[in-house]
Formats: sequence, C-alpha cells, structure tokens
Amino acid sequence: MGIGRASSWQATEVPALGARPKGRLPLTERPAWQELGQHFQEVRDLELKHLFAADPDRARHLAAEACDIYLDYSKNRITEVTLRLLVKLARECGLPERIEAMFSGQRINVSESRPVLHVALRAPRGESIMVDGEDVVAPVHQVLDRLADFAERVRNGSWKGHTGQPVRNVVNIGIGGSDLGPRMAYEALRHYARPDLKVRFVSNIDGTDFVEATRDLDPAETLFVVCSKSWHTLETLTNAKTARDWALRGLGGDADAVAKHFVAVSTNAQGVAEFGIDTANMFPFWDWVGGRYSYDSAIGLSLMVAIGPDQFRQMLAGMHAMDEHFRSAPLDANLPVLMGLLAVWYNNFFGAESVAVLPYDQYLRRLPAYLQQLDMESNGKHVDLAGEPVGFQTGPIIWGEPGTNGQHAFYQLIHQGTRLIPCDFIGFCASLNRLGRHQDLLMANLLAQTEALAFGRSAEELRQAGIPEWQIPYRVCVGNRPSNTLLLERLTPASLGSLIALYEHRTFTQGAIWGIDSFDQWGVELGKILADKIIPELESDSEPELAHDSSTNTLIRRYRERRGPE
Ligand code: F6P
Repeated sequence: MGIGRASSWQATEVPALGARPKGRLPLTERPAWQELGQHFQEVRDLELKHLFAADPDRARHLAAEACDIYLDYSKNRITEVTLRLLVKLARECGLPERIEAMFSGQRINVSESRPVLHVALRAPRGESIMVDGEDVVAPVHQVLDRLADFAERVRNGSWKGHTGQPVRNVVNIGIGGSDLGPRMAYEALRHYARPDLKVRFVSNIDGTDFVEATRDLDPAETLFVVCSKSWHTLETLTNAKTARDWALRGLGGDADAVAKHFVAVSTNAQGVAEFGIDTANMFPFWDWVGGRYSYDSAIGLSLMVAIGPDQFRQMLAGMHAMDEHFRSAPLDANLPVLMGLLAVWYNNFFGAESVAVLPYDQYLRRLPAYLQQLDMESNGKHVDLAGEPVGFQTGPIIWGEPGTNGQHAFYQLIHQGTRLIPCDFIGFCASLNRLGRHQDLLMANLLAQTEALAFGRSAEELRQAGIPEWQIPYRVCVGNRPSNTLLLERLTPASLGSLIALYEHRTFTQGAIWGIDSFDQWGVELGKILADKIIPELESDSEPELAHDSSTNTLIRRYRERRGPE
C-alpha cells in the first residue's frame, strides 16, 4: 500500500441538517469538499521533491508569520489549488462567522448551552465582551489582580504558613485541564521560575503520585493549590483530602492550619466551602472557560506563583496577540486556520489517523500531553452540532515527544512505516541555555528530520553512495512525508502564550469545518459513572453481589482476593 493512499473523503453517510444554518449543505456535499475530493485524486501521488523542483520559491510562497511565529508549511502535500479549495471550504463551513460567534460570546458550546470565552481571559483591561448583558472582561481582571496579589505575597514571604514559615513548596492538585495546562506551562517556563521554590503537580488518583510528590516536603513550608472547575472530580477531591490529612498530621492536627496551607481554584464556591477551604482563599473562574482552555485563568495560579505576575501577564499578552491574529488575518495568511485546514486535508482526504507534535526544546516536554487533551477531548466527537452522526472522521490522535529523544524511538515508523503521519516540528532560534554546540546540533536535527521526511533517499542515491544492491530495498526512504515547521525566536512567556493560542485556534478551526461541538466532553462521563458503581464493590467488607459482565465480575473477584492487606 502506498503511503497516504487510504481515503475517507468518499464517506456515504452525511449529517442531517438540524442546527446547521438554513441552506447550508452537509459537509461532504459542499462544493469545496467535493472539489477537494476530485483534486485529491489528482495530487495524491505528487511528490514533494517534484513540487519543490517546479517552484524554486515554494518555501517563500508557503510560509506565514504572526506573533513571532514563523510557519513553514511548504513541506506539505499541497499545491496552490489545494490551498484555494481548503480556504473555500472554510468559507462554506462558515469559519469566519464561527470565529466571530466565539469572540462575541455566543453559546457555541451547544450541548452545554454555554459561550466559549477563553479569549476573554487574555483580553486587555478595558475591553469588554458581553454575556447576557454583562461584561466578562472586568471580572477577569479583578481575579487576575487578586491572583497577582496572592502570588506576590507567597513569593515575597509575607504569606506565612501555620507555624510562621514562608512557603517554599507549591503543590498543584488537579487533573485534566486543571493539571495539564499549568504543568505544561510551568515546565515550559521553568527558566523564568523562582529557583528556590519547588513546584509539584499531583493528578493521578494512584496514591503513588501524592507520595512521591510530597516525599521530601515539609508541611510547614507547603502550599496546596487545589484546582477543580467542577469540584466534583474524584481524583482531585481524593488527593486534596489526602493532602489535608498529610498537612494536619505534620502540623500538629490544628484544623486552623488548612487556611494557611490550602487555596482553591474553582467555579463551585459551595463545594469548596463544604470541603473545608475558606472561600476567602478561593479564586474563581467561570463556566464559559473549558477545563482544557483554562490554564490562563486562575487555574494557572501555581504557574503565576512560580514565574511571577508580570511574566504571567506577558504570557496572556502573547495569547491575546494570537487571538487578534486569528480574528482578523485573512484566512490564507492565518496561522491557526492554515494549520487547521492542513490537518483536515490529511485527516479526511489522505485518511491520516494521527499527528505527531515534535518540540525541539526540552522545556516543551509536556506539550504533546497537553495538546492531547486540547485536541482529542475537543474534537473526539461522533455527532455534529445537531446531534446527528457525522459521516467522516473527526479528531486525529495526537502524540509526540521532544526531539531528539523521539528520533531514537519512534521516528523509524514515521520515515519508513506504512502510515502517513503528518508532523509538527517546533524549534527556537535561540536557546535559553547556551551550552557549547548543543543548540546548533539540536536544530540541525530538526531541520534534517523535516528534510529527510520530505525528500527521502532513493535507490539511485543509495547506489551512488556505494550501498550494496541487496541492502538497498531496506534502506530506501521514499520520502513525501509531510510536516509543518514552526520556528520561533526564543521561548518566552509571550511566545509560549502565542504558541498555545495558535493550537487552541487550530483545534477550533478543525471543529468548525467538521461542524462539531469542540467544547463538551460527554464521553468521559460513562467511565466515571461505572467507577462509582465499582468502588463500593471493591471496598465492601462482605462479598458483593456483582451484576457486571463475566469479565468484569471475574476481575473484581480476583482483585479482591489478591490485593493484600492494607
Ligand atoms: O476529563 C474530563 C474533565 O472534565 C476535563 O474536561 C477536565 O479538564 C477534567 O475532567 C478536570 O475537571 P475539573 O477541573 O472539574 O476537576
């Protein structure tokens, strides 16, 4: 099978009209989609080496820049016609209108009937976005000011623990969006963080996570930031309770200590109060912020304590700059739109099943994990906005590792496997840690990988290099494997902010083309409901009556028999 030959564009099922604007055709019946389908047949076998040979200026033609991010998308299997048709598709799908709907606070999260306003979290002071007759930007800045005040007090030592000691350790407790965002950004901006402050993250309900994160910490110097949008999440509430027991044990059991060692970030003040955290120590956010879009809200408190309010605000400014670009740049020069449309091209026409995100910066090591939630929780949907089954593939699998580690692990499959895996390479011109030749060697690897993937190595080239004939088939790299390269100047709070907003809006673009709700996550509910049923069955002292399938029943019994004493 030739790479990228599988095509899903001819899917026969189409979504029903439902909430689709009147007169708008189902996606697969739209003229641009149909034209892209025909065009795909014409270009599917075109090779990047020929496309580059035919246009010496291809790299200049297929590049765009915004917010100090240079996007080279020339190593994609596209022509000018592909781009024109993809942009036409975006218009036919109403992308500009959907962007405007988001920015103006319309309830585009239809299944939860909520606006989607993470862009308001980084709107400058004085701007206004109205939801139900109320401006949401002013409260954002009130909370930011409170956060900044608190973060400064922790940083300058005036916030004291129960025994009068300043905070030296911050432990963020949260999961999903209440963990991945702040954790990714803390790792990314570690260079800017206070080196004398230990920042840890506890997310997993596996007790090992808590034990290892707190093993070397003194409760008297430890602040827990408990983050949960809903304040219903089993993992977070369990870990928070364990943390409270741990802290009280270490602080002589005085319940008053909680007020000095625990703060909460949530939309659920009642839940926070019932848990025992004083709501004076609670920082709110709003239901129009999705969990996976929330690390720039109060959910980023641990990050703000680590890097300081000024750097945090610079990150917000970088995000806002990308928001403005997304809202105002023409579609064919709009970074998130271009990346989203290219993702649709591979996903729906080439039948690509995954996208590799490959940051060539160790500080971005948690970026792939963060993007997994951002993209897969957003666009892993099987029905359209009207609740009708989609008749095409939606969100791809996102995965990756920082370069060059991935090169010595899974790149073999990207180079010579049978699957088409579009890649995003992310690199920086200047390292934050200049150390001999390291940065040049790192970037040489990034550049070499994009080149090798695109152009490969033919049998003829191998012959000329003196490779024995019998070995040639094993060593041929057919190339023609697409990639984007994102080249930034330096990793700063602002450039990180722009990069993350770019990916947020890329996710949005894909969802808008597919006509799905990128802002709900009902699929994660079922597992939670079933776990709630199984918990008492595992904890019961007497043998429970089990009514699951025979596999689950057997596993429960085996677990109960063998788990060993407490
Ligand atoms: O995994 C489902 C989910 O609801 C995510 O969307 C969310 O980020 C995570 O759980 C944590 O939720 P909460 O912040 O409400 O604890």
